[in-house]
Amino acid sequence: MEKKNSYSRRFFIKASAAMGALAVVPKYVSSFYRDVKALIVPVKKHVNLTVLVNKQPYTMQADTRSTLLDLLRENLQLTGTKKGCDHGQCGACTVHVDGERTLSCLTLSAMTVGKEVTTIEGLSEGDDLHPMQEAFIACDGFQCGYCTPGQIMSAVACVKEGHTGSVEEIKAYMSGNLCRCGAYNGIVESIQKVAQA
Ligand code: FES
Ligand code: FES
Repeated sequence: MEKKNSYSRRFFIKASAAMGALAVVPKYVSSFYRDVKALIVPVKKHVNLTVLVNKQPYTMQADTRSTLLDLLRENLQLTGTKKGCDHGQCGACTVHVDGERTLSCLTLSAMTVGKEVTTIEGLSEGDDLHPMQEAFIACDGFQCGYCTPGQIMSAVACVKEGHTGSVEEIKAYMSGNLCRCGAYNGIVESIQKVAQA
């Protein structure tokens, strides 16, 4: 009985020491990751950036890592361009860069220097809506409207690219723009309407 108690005490002491050692490991692990992160993540740096958006030049101090989407929404307050997934999967952030549809959440703002960016705010001519905006209204191409700016920017490009030969073709070339409301029929009709005008 004596022996059993002594064995238990020894076992308990060893087990406690082992548990203590385990508790220390995460500290080393976390400080290791902190050091690695400091090495690989660049220090936040701001640079002078001039971008041409909707035919207007803007010069500002911007974080070198900022995306075009954040630059538009946060620096320029052009909030028509929407942030959906922020991962290149929904199309809500679509703008045109030099006339090509571009996912602004996957584009560094510094990459657009010297290029022409067009957002939904720059599509209309003053108070005159773009024909695609009119078609979306006429054909019921939106419900909540969240995806609509991205859909319209893609739709304009889709017509310009000539991918409007059939409903299937339109759907294929608009497949990068998701609509949680399911306004797809109206969107396709809008594109057909503009393509046939
Ligand atoms: S926010 Fe850019 S693709 Fe979804
Ligand atoms: S209209 Fe609501 S997400 Fe497309």
